[in-house]
Amino acid sequence: MLLGVQIRKNVISQKFIDEMIEIYDSSQTEDDGMRKVTHTIVETPEFLNIIKQCIGHKPILNAYNFYQTDAKNLYWPHTDYHASGSNITTNPADINVNVPLRYEGDEVPQLVIFNQRYLESSLTWCLDDEVYPFKHNKGVPGRPYDYDITNKTDKEIDKSLYEEHLSNHGRAYNFFGLSGKAYPLEPGSFIAFDNRRIHCTSNKAGPKLGINLTFNSSGVK
Ligand SMILES: [Fe+2]
Repeated sequence: MLLGVQIRKNVISQKFIDEMIEIYDSSQTEDDGMRKVTHTIVETPEFLNIIKQCIGHKPILNAYNFYQTDAKNLYWPHTDYHASGSNITTNPADINVNVPLRYEGDEVPQLVIFNQRYLESSLTWCLDDEVYPFKHNKGVPGRPYDYDITNKTDKEIDKSLYEEHLSNHGRAYNFFGLSGKAYPLEPGSFIAFDNRRIHCTSNKAGPKLGINLTFNSSGVK
C-alpha cells in the first residue's frame, strides 16, 4: 500500500508534456465534445518508471485517460477503487496518479485529498445535490461522514481548508468528520495516492488538462 500522498515536483520533462498536449489537441473531438485519445505514449518506460519508483512494489499499470475540465468543473468527493482493467492481475486498481499537463489562469488548480478512506468499491457522494447516475464510482446521497469510512475526526472540517478549497461544494456540514490537504496540479509534477482515499476538486478547479493513471500496487497474485 502506498503510504501517504506522494507528490514529486519537476520530474516530468517539458518535452514529454509538449508531446502529450500535441497528441491531445490533434485528436478528434467526439459528439459529446470529449476527445478520445488512444495513443500509447504514456506506456513508454521513460515515463512510467519515474512513477513506478514512487509507488514501489512493482506496480502494474491498469488504465489511463486524459482529462480536460473547464473552470467551473467541480467533482464531488469520491473514491476510485474498482475492479481490475488489467489482463494480468485480478486485484483491484488501488493507486491513482495524476499528471497535470497545462492549466489556464493565474492560479494553479488543486486537488483536495482527505485522510479518510472508503474501503469498498468506489462511490461518489452527491452531498446536497440529486444523486447522479454515474456508471463508475456509484453516486450516493449525502456526505462521506454518514458512511462507513475510516479515520473520522468527529469534528468540523478545518475552516481554512473549507473556505479556500471546498466552499463551492456547498456547506461545511458536507465535510464534517474529514481532514486533509489541497495539492497543486502543477505541470512537471505528479501526485500518487491510494484511491480509496476520498478526494474532490478544489474551488481552484481549472481549466486544466492532464492524465490520470491507475495502478495495481500489489502486483500479480
Ligand atoms: Fe478521482
